[in-house]
Amino acid sequence: TRIEKAGYKHFMMKEIAEQPTVVDRVLDAYLDADGSIAMTLPDVDFTKVSRISIVACGTAYYAGLVAKYWFEHYARLPVDIDVASEFRYREPPLPEGTLAVYVSQSGETADTLAALRYTDGKASRIVSLVNSAESSIARESDVAVPIHAGVEVSVASTKAFTAMLTTFAVMVLKAASERGVMDADTLAGHIQSLRQLPGLMSHAISIDGELARTARKVAQSRDVLFLGRGQMFPLALEGALKLKEISYLHAEGYASGELKHGPIALVDKNTPTVVLAPHDGLFEKTVSNMQEVMARGGRVLLISDAKAIAATGGGVWRTITMPDAPELVQPILYAIPAQLLAYHAAIAKGTDVDQPRNLAKSVTVE
Ligand code: G6P
Repeated sequence: TRIEKAGYKHFMMKEIAEQPTVVDRVLDAYLDADGSIAMTLPDVDFTKVSRISIVACGTAYYAGLVAKYWFEHYARLPVDIDVASEFRYREPPLPEGTLAVYVSQSGETADTLAALRYTDGKASRIVSLVNSAESSIARESDVAVPIHAGVEVSVASTKAFTAMLTTFAVMVLKAASERGVMDADTLAGHIQSLRQLPGLMSHAISIDGELARTARKVAQSRDVLFLGRGQMFPLALEGALKLKEISYLHAEGYASGELKHGPIALVDKNTPTVVLAPHDGLFEKTVSNMQEVMARGGRVLLISDAKAIAATGGGVWRTITMPDAPELVQPILYAIPAQLLAYHAAIAKGTDVDQPRNLAKSVTVE
């Protein structure tokens, strides 16, 4: 069947808007109505896994990077993560008990597939998160876990990213409960948080007009910095990647705390710094990072919740107020303003949003 834009100007916007439905579908696939986990991973015993090795490319790699924070924090499992093109030639040793996890929307990315073949026979089990169950990566894995995003047409990935994250979130909770490091009440709380996500995402999508106005300003600059801390660090990387891919603005994502070790030299009044920082235990540290930027004449665009915005003490160039969200789901939710910012910056620049220059949807060559 032909996929249509359904009234949207671009597939990218259609796919951004689909995300609440996609996340609902993922949750229905992997959670039972009574709130228990329905995800089955045949012959994967998380009590015997000593370490996870995640490998992917592009946006899928950033989804894996969020999952690293989650597996380590919630399931107390150490995770190594690599981009596939580095992993495959480095020939890394895989200690006993390593679970290999591959993430790929298309399931055909050449580097990811080559990395997977390298671990065949070395990892205790190979699990893949894929959008296409018919793909090479799905076929060559021991367990293929569909992310249920539906066909993604836009070259810049959006709904596949949040579908990967939602699938990972359930997998992390499964690992945590199997390993006995999360009690039943905490688990139930996290599952409830996931169930709130589609509603929160719809709310975030409704901020579109405000993001569009801000994006038009951002589009006038040459360089843009993205900052995030902890589980929001990968979102800073993804936000910068989206902007580069479709608006051709130079953007860099950095861990907030790393700003002082180099990128702060780029800050001037023409370089906006986008800070993705919901209120959390480390928010005060982020505020001081923002102050370092503002003290150098930099313009800060803070994307956060009302409580955090009220705590910044002013001086911020622009703010985008996001709904309050439980910690686990924050990286999934904050993908939306990052995507919309890039989308509207690209519109302002008049680029070909769905078919950006030099990029391919699926890279099946080295
Ligand atoms: C290409 C696409 C990216 C994508 C990456 C990995 O570079 O342009 O959007 O993130 O490949 O693709 P995969 O299908 O393996 O997720």
